[in-house]
Amino acid sequence: MKKHQTVLVVDFGGQYTQLIVRRVRDLGIYSEMVPWTTAETKIREVQPDAVILSGGPKSVLDIGAPTIDMDVLQGIPTLGICYGQQLMAYRLGGVVEKGSHAEYGRRTLKVDTTPQVGRRKSDAAPAAHAPIPEFLVSGLSSDQVWMSHFDQVMQVPPGFSVTSTTDSCPVAGMENDEAKQYAVQFHPEVTHTSDGKTVLRRFLFDKAGLKGDWTSESFIEEQISSIRAQVGDGKVLCAVSGGVDSAVMAALLIRAIGDRAVCVFVDHGLLRKNEADQVRDTFIGHFKANLKVFDAKDQFFGELVGVTDPERKRKIVGEQFVRVFETHADDLKGCDFLAQGTLYPDVIESGSPTAAKIKTHHNVGGLPDWMRMKLIEPLRWLFKDEVRSVGRKLGLPEDMVEREPFPGPGLSVRVLGEVTRERVHMVQEADAIFRDELRKRGLHKGIWQSYAALLDVKSVGVMGDERTYQQPIVLRAVASEDAMTAHAVEIPFDVLDHVATRIVNEVPGVNRVFYDLTSKPPATIELE
Ligand code: XMP
Repeated sequence: MKKHQTVLVVDFGGQYTQLIVRRVRDLGIYSEMVPWTTAETKIREVQPDAVILSGGPKSVLDIGAPTIDMDVLQGIPTLGICYGQQLMAYRLGGVVEKGSHAEYGRRTLKVDTTPQVGRRKSDAAPAAHAPIPEFLVSGLSSDQVWMSHFDQVMQVPPGFSVTSTTDSCPVAGMENDEAKQYAVQFHPEVTHTSDGKTVLRRFLFDKAGLKGDWTSESFIEEQISSIRAQVGDGKVLCAVSGGVDSAVMAALLIRAIGDRAVCVFVDHGLLRKNEADQVRDTFIGHFKANLKVFDAKDQFFGELVGVTDPERKRKIVGEQFVRVFETHADDLKGCDFLAQGTLYPDVIESGSPTAAKIKTHHNVGGLPDWMRMKLIEPLRWLFKDEVRSVGRKLGLPEDMVEREPFPGPGLSVRVLGEVTRERVHMVQEADAIFRDELRKRGLHKGIWQSYAALLDVKSVGVMGDERTYQQPIVLRAVASEDAMTAHAVEIPFDVLDHVATRIVNEVPGVNRVFYDLTSKPPATIELE
């Protein structure tokens, strides 16, 4: 179903393909990624308004190299990037040569500014006052572009002009404006190409004539009708965890079907300070939602008594979620659908945009059979930042929308050693102080996750005239792109000093504060 103007990004295995999709969406145009193996069918089916051919690790000259039938693209404005440019050149009758060495890194782009008449396509002498050509790459605010390739185009196909070169690349860009075919050897989607956004904008708006009709408002409107159509008179069970995805999903469902969105919040006592109250206030107070709060603190803390092994904690928390749902089965049985917070990157990673992968939430190890309802995944077209902006439009509080990733097992993995109410409380208080001080100074921006954890050792201190023998808090703040790697954020010493003083003064039982400097790898983001 095509509701918006759509740009399909054909993936040839490039490391930046997802980024291209994001950049297009940032410009307000709906975009989807499609593997090259299924691209032709998808293009016929969707009839996209433009197509972008991604980069990729292979050589177009290799037998069995990823490819696409150029006839399918006829009449559709197309932009080839890196491998995409080489493929266009090769398939349309140009010459591509195997490179003997890689061109990798920043290069200076030289744009062809020969007047329109008489440039390479024709031998005629340039006419006086002939217009300077308007290429995708003309007049960029910076000539710095990011290259990463072996092969290169040596001769452009018939009808194409060379738009730009670099010292080592004879065709850094080429285009055939009449056929609406454009290509660049560099990567406009990465930030190392300083003005890459202009290249994409020109292609999408000026050349392909797109308008930019992908906004949070239009998404919300479409989802509301689609949810109503899908659910009919049915009810949807929606588990709210306190995290941004489930909160946005619940807000969207409530907007669409009111109290037939049966929202459930399991209060296990392992969230950060005030987060459980905020869930209640937002959904019951503000949205007047049909929110059922299951207070399961005793159950979770009871099961965690004496448990110190991190993996056991994870398993117990996951299992207890299921137990809570089982205990309240009668409350939930009228639900025909189960809402799941799948996002677009999960859809891409599952390999098929149509076959939803069932992700286990919060380490829930196996849902009971009666919970295997029909799935509804209203956020499956969105990236995380789009989820946040939809959340804002739906009226969720800013600190809920901006919430950092939080582990499913909650503070049980930030309390090293045994998880008791008292020890969780210490972490909640220290954590609130730390993050509050960061936020006050605007230092939370650029931080992926920041938190306090409690260690399972004791050390000696002195407070007043008293010797203390108490526990230490570890503060951790990391920057990361995707949680696969991370590094400690440099926080000014006076801020750390102030936070440490507040913690030892305000949190009973804590007499020392450490700041974790380790990167991931070799450490992990969480301490357990
Ligand atoms: P690590 O500690 O492995 O964490 O560097 C990477 C990211 O995953 C989160 N995390 C979890 N999330 N259940 C979750 O849902 C878990 O058991 C879990 N353990 C770690 C962590 O907060 C970070 O964002």
